[in-house]
Parts: sequence; structure tokens; C-alpha cells
Amino acid sequence: MPQLNILVGTMYGGALDVAEQVKPLFEQAGFAVNIVEQPTLDDLTSDEDLSLFVLSTTGSGDFPGNFVPFVRSLKDKSPALTTLRYGMIALGDSSYGDTYCGAGRALDALLEDHGARRLGDRLEIDAMETFMADDAAVPWVETWIEEQQLKVA
Ligand SMILES: Cc1cc2nc3c(=O)[nH]c(=O)nc-3n(C[C@H](O)[C@H](O)[C@H](O)COP(=O)(O)O)c2cc1C
Repeated sequence: MPQLNILVGTMYGGALDVAEQVKPLFEQAGFAVNIVEQPTLDDLTSDEDLSLFVLSTTGSGDFPGNFVPFVRSLKDKSPALTTLRYGMIALGDSSYGDTYCGAGRALDALLEDHGARRLGDRLEIDAMETFMADDAAVPWVETWIEEQQLKVA
């Protein structure tokens, strides 16, 4: 059974909640799903080459604390991620203006620099418009699985 890691960056648990709500959709599509709350580079191994990031933004466009070590090792070790395909769900709040979804956008740029390929568009969930982030994430993931032909079962 193929493995899908959902790597979470969260301050207040909203991104983790999204990960938990979308997990069964991937299981129904034939994946063994692992939600990773303290991600490291080891969670991006080459035989597990499909990942989903669910990442909120804090501070002024900053990464949540639990996600900082992942970004630091990505920058320090600079691994080639050419086999990695991934999806990106970014949580933010447009009232923060220029730093809206800054962590998700910055991670996207970093992953691209390292050769990874995002499948489909990044989903940005705006807390100003969407009270429950799952309401936006669940239909997006359903469409994502279909459009990217990820279903294996
Ligand atoms: C102190 C603080 C700073 C924030 N800074 C930003 C920001 O710079 N850009 C942004 O888009 N959202 C920002 N947000 C909004 C959060 O990203 C948003 O509420 C998100 O849904 C929180 O997800 P979480 O529950 O996973 O931490 C901030 C929220 C707080 C409380």
C-alpha cells in the first residue's frame, strides 16, 4: 500500500484538524496515511514520494514553531527533492495583508528550489472567509485526488 505523509505546521491546532479531516479521504483512495506533527526531512523519503503539507502562518508570515526545524534542515542540508510530488494547503488570514499565507507560500518556493513538484494549485484558506477550515479543505482534497489521479484502490 502506498504511503502518504501529511506534514502539519500549526500553532492553535487548526491545521492539524484539517489533516485529521482529510486523512480518511486518502485512506479511501488506497493510501496508508501518517499525520506528522513534528516533521523532519526523514518524512520525505524517496519511496514515500507523495506528501501533503497543511501549514498555517504565524507572526508576520512566519512558520509555526513545530515546523521551524523542518525548514531549518531543508535550508541547511539542501537535499535534492526531485522525486517528491506534493500538495499544499496553506491556512492564513487575509487581514494580515502582505504576509497572507506567507509560510505556505515560502515553503512552496523552497520546495521548488529543491526540485520538488507541486501537484495542482496551492489551496489557501482565509480565516476571514472560512470559519471552519475543513469546509474548504475536504472538497478541495476530493477534487485533488481525482484530478491528480491519485486513487490506487
Ligand atoms: C499571532 C498570529 C499571527 C498571525 N500571522 C499571520 C500572518 O502573518 N499571515 C497570515 O496569513 N495569517 C496569520 N495568522 C492567522 C493564522 O494563520 C490563521 O488563523 C490560521 O488559521 C491558524 O491556524 P492554526 O490553528 O493551525 O495555527 C496569524 C494568527 C495569529 C494568532
